[in-house]
Amino acid sequence: MSAITPSSHGHGAASPLTARRSAALKGRLRPPGDKSISHRSLLMGLLAIGETSIEGLLEGDDVLRTAEGCRALGAHVERLGPGSWKVQGRGLGTLAEPKEVLDFGNAGTGTRLMMGIVGGHAITATFDGDASLRKRPMRRILDPLVLMGAEVVKEAEGGRVPVTLKGTGEPTPIEYKTPVPSAQLKSAVLLAGLNSPGRTTVIETEASRDHTEKMLAYFGATITSEPYGEHGRKITLEGRPKLTPRPIIVPADPSSAAFALVAALIVPGSDIVIEGMMMNPLRVGLLDTLLEMGANIEILNKRIEGGEDVADLRVRQGALKGVDVPASRAPAMIDEYPVLAVAAGFAQGQTRMRGLSELRVKESDRLAAVADGLKATGVACSIEGDDLIVEGHGQVRGGGTVATHLDHRIAMSFLVMGLASEQPVTIDDESMIATSFPTFRPAMQQLGATFG
Ligand code: S3P
Repeated sequence: MSAITPSSHGHGAASPLTARRSAALKGRLRPPGDKSISHRSLLMGLLAIGETSIEGLLEGDDVLRTAEGCRALGAHVERLGPGSWKVQGRGLGTLAEPKEVLDFGNAGTGTRLMMGIVGGHAITATFDGDASLRKRPMRRILDPLVLMGAEVVKEAEGGRVPVTLKGTGEPTPIEYKTPVPSAQLKSAVLLAGLNSPGRTTVIETEASRDHTEKMLAYFGATITSEPYGEHGRKITLEGRPKLTPRPIIVPADPSSAAFALVAALIVPGSDIVIEGMMMNPLRVGLLDTLLEMGANIEILNKRIEGGEDVADLRVRQGALKGVDVPASRAPAMIDEYPVLAVAAGFAQGQTRMRGLSELRVKESDRLAAVADGLKATGVACSIEGDDLIVEGHGQVRGGGTVATHLDHRIAMSFLVMGLASEQPVTIDDESMIATSFPTFRPAMQQLGATFG
């Protein structure tokens, strides 16, 4: 067994990093395992009785925190080798009460999904995290859990962590319409509903990523998902299923692939292949948008791996044009707006990204952080209501220092910009990149990116 633990990112001195105009990017890249699926793999392992084996797990800090959380609730979690893990689950209804605070670091997904699990069990747990997590709204998760019978013993002002949650062993079955399109919220309610003696229904008016539903079905739960309205889904879960461990293969994360994808579109002469990218329709909004912008992307070798659609992408640099991105696409590309904004700076014409209110409550206020970063690097942009408008002129000046606000995706997006801008781009801190893409720097350097 090889041990691996989360780093104490965000607590030490900041590490600035500079990206410089690079020669054509060439070669092949296999992005790391999908973060959403990696969290869920460990949590499903905790809830099933017996051994769940996972291949391709993302070993980023966020996921390692979830592994620690599963251990604290009684699972035996072991790393067998790079990306290869096994979880010996305790089973639904039999989880242990954690003895210490569950420190989720920067990880919103781990925190919120685990809140769902704790909320549906007769245990009490305290959740905490770094300065970024302490700013993020948790009321949206706590509200339905309270409806199901959980009790919020303590919370920081405005429903933030540190939160102490006392769960119930008899969660009330509810029908819940989510007030915001959030897969984390949907998943928390479903995970709490797992231990309910009845049927839990979640209605979302905009469909969000469906990995929790797919995995629950794969582990043997009775769960249905039907269309609701124009863009929504109605998901119904029968409580107290017998969850049977199944082997999991984690596909490559489209949200991490996004950085190499946009880099290859904007660095002159680039021609790369991104291997095994997950093509789940609820995750490919960026790809759809870039294709509308005229991006030279070939989708090759479509196949199914680990129950998800995957493909290889051949990406070549070329001219991009500004587009209007509808608000209804936001859930399918919610984490990709920062890097899309960078691509929009290199496009010709205006790009308007509509309906971005959820970006304000991510690892940072991403709407403000992106706009500030664009302004610092010479890209004209504005915020109108919840829309971000970027004026593209085919090239970007660069040259500034971008504040990353403990946000990995802001960090990687502006490093990508610096690979193609006239002047280098510096970010104030690269350390948070370890939360989702610990091998970002060497992987990009292998394609020809110049940092430092
Ligand atoms: C995630 C859902 C999204 C996304 C996050 C991962 C998930 O958040 O931004 O990075 O794994 O469920 P919301 O569901 O809150 O929009």
